[in-house]
Amino acid sequence: MTQDEKWLAIDDYIVESFLDDDPALEGALAASDAAGLPRIQVAPLQGKLLMMLARALQARNILEVGTLGGYSTIWLARGLGDGGRVTTLELDPGHAEVARRNFGNAGLGDRIDIRVGPALETMAALHAEDAGPFDLVFIDADKPRTPDYFDWAVKLGRAGTLIVVDNVVREGAILAAQSGNKHVKGLREFYARAAADPRVTATAFQTVGHKGHDGLAIVQMIETR
Ligand code: SAH
Ligand code: DHB
Ligand code: MG
Repeated sequence: MTQDEKWLAIDDYIVESFLDDDPALEGALAASDAAGLPRIQVAPLQGKLLMMLARALQARNILEVGTLGGYSTIWLARGLGDGGRVTTLELDPGHAEVARRNFGNAGLGDRIDIRVGPALETMAALHAEDAGPFDLVFIDADKPRTPDYFDWAVKLGRAGTLIVVDNVVREGAILAAQSGNKHVKGLREFYARAAADPRVTATAFQTVGHKGHDGLAIVQMIETR
């Protein structure tokens, strides 16, 4: 067995151990495939982590940046406390349309708002509307703007808010300090800002398995100023 095969086998083992058949999520993925969306949604085990974090926070106000077909959104919405809502931001109207149908089919249409447009603009609008504070923010859109989404997430949060950031390892590309790659530059700038920001404390972990080698960062807000 190669190292990759071993990681895949272990991923399968954990999935078989801890995840049930899930017609709503499988239906959402089938509809996303049929619509030609890229298969870049979070892995099932990471989706379940998002749900569990939402539950642990008793989250009633969740923000997601980057909806795609709404796979991660469905996991987040399942973790909502009574009467809670997920607001999810998506640039592409076609993606949003697929997601909206998936939310309806999953019975979650009334707990999820999709806002279509560039997330920097919708985050500014949410701030102007006083839509926060959000209990949990999941950042998973265009990587070069991750540092800006992080700054907005802090503005939209409160002490105790968790900000989860996807794709913070990228097969190790994150080590390339001199990289001209705008995705890597954006993600490294996010690390630098989170490390330097006295209002937050952060960790990250690496993931392996069906989505390859990547990672999630978890940032906790400790004060607001
Ligand atoms: N969170 C999803 C995957 C999101 S993929 C899941 O795990 O299921 C990234 C999404 O971000 C894509 O749908 C892409 O269209 C969207 N996106 C890219 N640039 C954006 C922007 N400027 N504003 C909002 N969404 C954007
Ligand atoms: C890509 C984006 C993601 O959010 C992800 O989880 C995996 C891949 C991408 O743009 O390639
Ligand atoms: Mg991602």
